[in-house]
Amino acid sequence: MSTSTTRSPAPEQETSMTQRTAARSAAQAPPTGGAVGLRVSGVDKVYPTRRGEVHALSGIDLDVARGEFVSLVGRSGCGKTTLLRILSGLLAPSAGLVEAGGRPAWSAGRRDDAVFAEFGLVFQEANLFPWFTVTDNVALPLKLRGMPRAERRARAVELCATVGLAGFEDSYPRELSGGMRQRAAIARALACDPSVLLMDEPFGALDALTRDRMNLELQQIHAVSGATVVFVTHSIPEAVFLADRVVLLTPRPGRIRSVTPVDLPRPRSAATETTPEFGALVAGLRTELDRED
Ligand SMILES: Nc1ncnc2c1ncn2[C@@H]1O[C@H](COP(=O)(O)OP(=O)(O)O)[C@@H](O)[C@H]1O
Ligand SMILES: [Mg+2]
Repeated sequence: MSTSTTRSPAPEQETSMTQRTAARSAAQAPPTGGAVGLRVSGVDKVYPTRRGEVHALSGIDLDVARGEFVSLVGRSGCGKTTLLRILSGLLAPSAGLVEAGGRPAWSAGRRDDAVFAEFGLVFQEANLFPWFTVTDNVALPLKLRGMPRAERRARAVELCATVGLAGFEDSYPRELSGGMRQRAAIARALACDPSVLLMDEPFGALDALTRDRMNLELQQIHAVSGATVVFVTHSIPEAVFLADRVVLLTPRPGRIRSVTPVDLPRPRSAATETTPEFGALVAGLRTELDRED
Protein backbone atom coordinates (compact mmCIF):
# COMPACT_ATOMS: atom_id res chain seq x y z
CA MET A 1 0.00 0.00 0.00
CA SER A 2 1.29 3.41 -0.89
CA THR A 3 1.77 5.93 1.88
CA SER A 4 1.39 8.84 -0.48
CA THR A 5 -1.62 10.98 -1.17
CA THR A 6 -1.88 10.91 -4.92
CA ARG A 7 -3.61 13.47 -7.03
CA SER A 8 -5.44 12.25 -10.05
CA PRO A 9 -3.72 13.18 -13.30
CA ALA A 10 -7.05 13.65 -15.08
CA PRO A 11 -9.38 14.49 -12.24
CA GLU A 12 -12.30 15.69 -14.33
CA GLN A 13 -12.96 12.22 -15.64
CA GLU A 14 -12.22 10.31 -12.50
CA THR A 15 -13.35 12.19 -9.44
CA SER A 16 -15.91 14.74 -8.46
CA MET A 17 -14.93 18.30 -7.65
CA THR A 18 -15.54 17.69 -3.94
CA GLN A 19 -13.30 14.65 -3.82
CA ARG A 20 -10.63 16.53 -5.69
CA THR A 21 -10.74 19.47 -3.32
CA ALA A 22 -10.64 17.12 -0.32
CA ALA A 23 -7.63 15.27 -1.75
CA ARG A 24 -5.89 18.55 -2.43
CA SER A 25 -6.33 19.93 1.09
CA ALA A 26 -5.20 16.64 2.65
CA ALA A 27 -2.11 16.64 0.45
CA GLN A 28 -1.12 20.24 1.00
CA ALA A 29 -1.60 20.29 4.76
CA PRO A 30 1.47 19.84 6.95
CA PRO A 31 1.50 16.69 9.07
CA THR A 32 1.38 18.47 12.42
CA GLY A 33 -1.06 21.05 13.61
CA GLY A 34 1.83 23.52 14.10
CA ALA A 35 2.20 26.99 12.66
CA VAL A 36 2.56 27.36 8.91
CA GLY A 37 6.08 28.38 7.87
CA LEU A 38 5.32 28.73 4.17
CA ARG A 39 2.03 28.71 2.31
CA VAL A 40 1.78 28.45 -1.44
CA SER A 41 -1.73 28.90 -2.86
CA GLY A 42 -2.76 28.62 -6.48
CA VAL A 43 0.69 29.45 -7.83
CA ASP A 44 1.03 29.46 -11.60
CA LYS A 45 4.02 30.43 -13.69
CA VAL A 46 4.02 31.09 -17.39
CA TYR A 47 7.25 32.12 -19.11
CA PRO A 48 6.66 34.17 -22.25
CA THR A 49 9.23 33.13 -24.88
CA ARG A 50 9.73 33.99 -28.53
CA ARG A 51 8.28 30.62 -29.46
CA GLY A 52 5.20 31.06 -27.29
CA GLU A 53 4.37 30.57 -23.66
CA VAL A 54 5.92 27.90 -21.43
CA HIS A 55 3.52 26.91 -18.68
CA ALA A 56 6.08 25.96 -16.02
CA LEU A 57 3.83 25.64 -12.96
CA SER A 58 0.10 25.16 -12.58
CA GLY A 59 -2.11 25.27 -9.51
CA ILE A 60 0.59 24.73 -6.90
CA ASP A 61 -0.89 24.49 -3.39
CA LEU A 62 1.41 23.58 -0.53
CA ASP A 63 1.69 24.35 3.16
CA VAL A 64 5.01 23.76 4.89
CA ALA A 65 4.89 23.74 8.67
CA ARG A 66 7.30 25.89 10.63
CA GLY A 67 10.46 23.85 11.13
CA GLU A 68 9.38 21.21 8.64
CA PHE A 69 11.76 19.78 6.02
CA VAL A 70 10.13 19.28 2.63
CA SER A 71 11.94 17.74 -0.34
CA LEU A 72 10.85 18.55 -3.89
CA VAL A 73 11.60 15.85 -6.46
CA GLY A 74 10.80 15.39 -10.11
CA ARG A 75 12.37 15.07 -13.51
CA SER A 76 14.32 17.86 -15.16
CA GLY A 77 12.01 20.55 -16.43
CA CYS A 78 9.12 19.85 -14.05
CA GLY A 79 9.42 23.28 -12.47
CA LYS A 80 11.42 22.64 -9.28
CA THR A 81 13.78 25.57 -9.81
CA THR A 82 10.93 27.80 -10.93
CA LEU A 83 9.04 27.06 -7.71
CA LEU A 84 12.13 27.58 -5.59
CA ARG A 85 12.91 30.89 -7.29
CA ILE A 86 9.36 32.05 -6.62
CA LEU A 87 9.73 31.00 -2.98
CA SER A 88 13.05 32.89 -2.86
CA GLY A 89 11.51 36.12 -4.11
CA LEU A 90 13.70 36.04 -7.24
CA LEU A 91 10.86 35.36 -9.66
CA ALA A 92 7.30 36.64 -9.63
CA PRO A 93 4.52 34.08 -9.96
CA SER A 94 2.09 34.70 -12.84
CA ALA A 95 -0.73 34.02 -10.39
CA GLY A 96 -1.21 32.93 -6.82
CA LEU A 97 -0.01 33.74 -3.35
CA VAL A 98 3.04 32.91 -1.23
CA GLU A 99 2.96 33.58 2.51
CA ALA A 100 5.68 33.15 5.11
CA GLY A 101 4.73 32.97 8.78
CA GLY A 102 1.30 34.33 7.88
CA ARG A 103 2.66 37.38 6.02
CA PRO A 104 2.16 37.79 2.27
CA ALA A 105 5.50 37.41 0.49
CA TRP A 106 4.15 37.44 -3.08
CA SER A 107 0.68 38.80 -3.48
CA ALA A 108 -0.84 39.97 -6.77
CA GLY A 109 2.65 39.98 -8.30
CA ARG A 110 4.01 42.30 -5.58
CA ARG A 111 6.90 41.28 -3.40
CA ASP A 112 7.43 42.12 0.26
CA ASP A 113 11.22 42.46 0.51
CA ALA A 114 11.18 42.37 4.32
CA VAL A 115 9.72 38.85 4.27
CA PHE A 116 12.31 37.53 1.81
CA ALA A 117 15.15 39.14 3.80
CA GLU A 118 14.55 36.42 6.41
CA PHE A 119 15.18 33.62 3.92
CA GLY A 120 18.46 31.81 3.31
CA LEU A 121 19.28 30.49 -0.17
CA VAL A 122 21.69 27.77 -1.31
CA PHE A 123 22.16 26.78 -4.95
CA GLN A 124 24.10 24.08 -6.78
CA GLU A 125 27.00 26.47 -7.27
CA ALA A 126 28.35 27.93 -4.04
CA ASN A 127 28.85 31.36 -5.67
CA LEU A 128 31.45 32.51 -3.18
CA PHE A 129 33.50 35.62 -3.86
CA PRO A 130 36.96 34.29 -4.79
CA TRP A 131 38.80 37.28 -3.34
CA PHE A 132 37.13 36.94 0.08
CA THR A 133 38.16 34.43 2.73
CA VAL A 134 35.63 31.89 4.01
CA THR A 135 34.74 34.05 7.00
CA ASP A 136 34.38 37.17 4.86
CA ASN A 137 32.07 35.28 2.50
CA VAL A 138 30.03 33.89 5.38
CA ALA A 139 29.88 37.28 7.10
CA LEU A 140 28.88 39.19 3.97
CA PRO A 141 25.11 39.20 4.66
CA LEU A 142 25.89 40.50 8.17
CA LYS A 143 28.11 43.24 6.74
CA LEU A 144 25.28 44.25 4.40
CA ARG A 145 23.09 44.57 7.48
CA GLY A 146 25.60 46.83 9.16
CA MET A 147 26.87 44.46 11.87
CA PRO A 148 30.21 45.67 13.29
CA ARG A 149 33.30 43.83 12.03
CA ALA A 150 34.34 42.06 15.25
CA GLU A 151 30.82 40.86 15.90
CA ARG A 152 30.24 39.53 12.39
CA ARG A 153 33.62 37.82 12.37
CA ALA A 154 32.75 36.06 15.66
CA ARG A 155 29.42 34.95 14.22
CA ALA A 156 31.07 33.73 11.00
CA VAL A 157 33.62 31.69 12.98
CA GLU A 158 30.76 30.12 14.94
CA LEU A 159 28.92 29.30 11.70
CA CYS A 160 32.07 27.76 10.20
CA ALA A 161 32.18 25.42 13.18
CA THR A 162 28.49 24.55 12.72
CA VAL A 163 29.04 23.45 9.12
CA GLY A 164 32.34 21.65 9.78
CA LEU A 165 34.71 24.30 8.44
CA ALA A 166 36.59 25.00 11.66
CA GLY A 167 40.22 25.64 10.79
CA PHE A 168 39.40 26.95 7.31
CA GLU A 169 38.13 30.38 8.34
CA ASP A 170 40.94 32.23 6.59
CA SER A 171 41.12 30.02 3.49
CA TYR A 172 40.05 31.26 0.08
CA PRO A 173 37.37 29.43 -1.93
CA ARG A 174 39.96 28.08 -4.42
CA GLU A 175 41.68 26.30 -1.52
CA LEU A 176 38.51 24.36 -0.64
CA SER A 177 36.98 21.17 -2.06
CA GLY A 178 33.53 21.30 -3.66
CA GLY A 179 31.93 19.97 -0.49
CA MET A 180 33.68 22.57 1.64
CA ARG A 181 32.57 25.36 -0.69
CA GLN A 182 28.98 24.17 -0.32
CA ARG A 183 29.42 24.15 3.46
CA ALA A 184 30.55 27.77 3.26
CA ALA A 185 27.49 28.60 1.13
CA ILE A 186 25.26 26.96 3.74
CA ALA A 187 27.00 28.88 6.53
CA ARG A 188 26.44 32.12 4.61
CA ALA A 189 22.77 31.24 4.15
CA LEU A 190 22.48 30.63 7.91
CA ALA A 191 24.23 33.89 8.82
CA CYS A 192 21.06 35.89 9.30
CA ASP A 193 19.24 33.12 11.22
CA PRO A 194 16.80 32.48 8.39
CA SER A 195 13.30 31.33 9.25
CA VAL A 196 13.19 29.62 5.84
CA LEU A 197 16.06 27.86 4.08
CA LEU A 198 15.63 27.19 0.35
CA MET A 199 18.05 24.80 -1.34
CA ASP A 200 18.17 23.96 -5.05
CA GLU A 201 20.17 20.77 -5.63
CA PRO A 202 22.87 22.02 -3.25
CA PHE A 203 24.79 18.74 -3.34
CA GLY A 204 24.14 17.92 -6.99
CA ALA A 205 27.73 18.53 -8.06
CA LEU A 206 29.33 16.55 -5.22
CA ASP A 207 30.62 12.98 -5.27
CA ALA A 208 28.45 10.32 -3.61
CA LEU A 209 30.46 9.98 -0.41
CA THR A 210 30.68 13.71 0.21
CA ARG A 211 27.00 13.99 -0.53
CA ASP A 212 26.14 11.37 2.10
CA ARG A 213 28.17 13.25 4.67
CA MET A 214 26.58 16.57 3.72
CA ASN A 215 23.15 15.00 4.14
CA LEU A 216 23.98 13.90 7.68
CA GLU A 217 25.28 17.37 8.45
CA LEU A 218 22.32 19.13 6.89
CA GLN A 219 20.02 17.02 9.06
CA GLN A 220 21.96 18.20 12.11
CA ILE A 221 21.95 21.84 10.97
CA HIS A 222 18.20 21.67 10.39
CA ALA A 223 17.64 20.20 13.86
CA VAL A 224 19.72 22.95 15.49
CA SER A 225 18.48 25.92 13.44
CA GLY A 226 14.79 24.97 13.50
CA ALA A 227 14.43 26.55 10.04
CA THR A 228 11.68 25.59 7.63
CA VAL A 229 13.46 23.91 4.70
CA VAL A 230 12.46 23.36 1.09
CA PHE A 231 15.09 21.18 -0.58
CA VAL A 232 15.15 20.42 -4.31
CA THR A 233 16.88 17.26 -5.49
CA HIS A 234 16.96 14.78 -8.36
CA SER A 235 17.76 11.99 -5.95
CA ILE A 236 14.83 10.13 -4.42
CA PRO A 237 16.93 8.47 -1.66
CA GLU A 238 18.34 11.88 -0.71
CA ALA A 239 14.84 13.39 -0.70
CA VAL A 240 13.51 10.64 1.57
CA PHE A 241 16.53 10.62 3.86
CA LEU A 242 16.19 14.31 4.68
CA ALA A 243 12.50 15.05 4.54
CA ASP A 244 9.44 15.07 6.73
CA ARG A 245 7.47 15.02 3.46
CA VAL A 246 8.46 14.46 -0.17
CA VAL A 247 6.59 16.45 -2.81
CA LEU A 248 6.68 14.91 -6.28
CA LEU A 249 6.23 17.27 -9.24
CA THR A 250 5.27 16.23 -12.77
CA PRO A 251 6.07 18.30 -15.86
CA ARG A 252 4.21 20.23 -18.59
CA PRO A 253 2.88 22.07 -16.73
CA GLY A 254 4.55 21.46 -13.39
CA ARG A 255 1.99 20.16 -10.92
CA ILE A 256 2.16 18.45 -7.55
CA ARG A 257 1.47 14.82 -8.21
CA SER A 258 1.81 13.48 -4.69
CA VAL A 259 2.92 14.33 -1.19
CA THR A 260 4.50 11.48 0.76
CA PRO A 261 5.01 11.70 4.53
CA VAL A 262 8.30 10.20 5.73
CA ASP A 263 7.77 8.88 9.24
CA LEU A 264 11.26 7.47 9.75
CA PRO A 265 12.64 8.24 13.23
CA ARG A 266 15.25 10.98 13.67
CA PRO A 267 18.15 11.38 13.85
CA ARG A 268 18.60 9.30 10.72
CA SER A 269 21.89 7.61 9.91
CA ALA A 270 23.46 5.45 7.22
CA ALA A 271 21.64 2.53 8.88
CA THR A 272 18.29 4.22 8.14
CA GLU A 273 18.88 3.62 4.43
CA THR A 274 19.06 -0.12 4.96
CA THR A 275 15.65 -0.38 6.67
CA PRO A 276 12.69 -1.89 4.79
CA GLU A 277 10.65 1.26 5.53
CA PHE A 278 13.20 3.46 3.77
CA GLY A 279 13.39 1.03 0.85
CA ALA A 280 9.61 0.96 0.50
CA LEU A 281 9.34 4.76 0.42
CA VAL A 282 12.06 5.06 -2.22
CA ALA A 283 10.55 2.28 -4.33
CA GLY A 284 7.08 3.83 -4.10
CA LEU A 285 8.32 7.21 -5.28
CA ARG A 286 10.36 5.64 -8.11
CA THR A 287 7.27 3.81 -9.31
CA GLU A 288 5.34 7.07 -9.33
CA LEU A 289 8.04 8.82 -11.34
CA ASP A 290 8.17 5.91 -13.81
CA ARG A 291 4.42 6.10 -14.33
CA GLU A 292 5.05 9.32 -16.27
CA ASP A 293 7.05 7.54 -18.98
N1 LIG B 1 13.62 31.78 -17.96
C1 LIG B 1 12.90 30.87 -18.61
N2 LIG B 1 12.29 31.17 -19.79
C2 LIG B 1 11.53 30.27 -20.43
N3 LIG B 1 11.30 29.02 -19.99
C3 LIG B 1 11.88 28.65 -18.83
C4 LIG B 1 12.71 29.55 -18.09
N4 LIG B 1 13.14 28.91 -16.98
C5 LIG B 1 12.61 27.67 -17.01
N5 LIG B 1 11.85 27.51 -18.13
C6 LIG B 1 11.08 26.30 -18.51
O1 LIG B 1 10.18 26.01 -17.45
C7 LIG B 1 10.12 24.62 -17.21
C8 LIG B 1 10.55 24.33 -15.78
O2 LIG B 1 11.92 24.61 -15.64
P1 LIG B 1 12.71 24.49 -14.24
O3 LIG B 1 11.93 25.19 -13.21
O4 LIG B 1 14.11 24.91 -14.47
O5 LIG B 1 12.65 22.90 -13.98
P2 LIG B 1 13.55 21.95 -13.07
O6 LIG B 1 14.28 22.78 -12.09
O7 LIG B 1 12.57 21.01 -12.44
O8 LIG B 1 14.47 21.22 -14.00
C9 LIG B 1 10.99 23.97 -18.27
O9 LIG B 1 10.17 23.62 -19.35
C10 LIG B 1 11.95 25.08 -18.66
O10 LIG B 1 12.40 24.93 -19.98
MG1 LIG C 1 16.34 22.94 -11.62
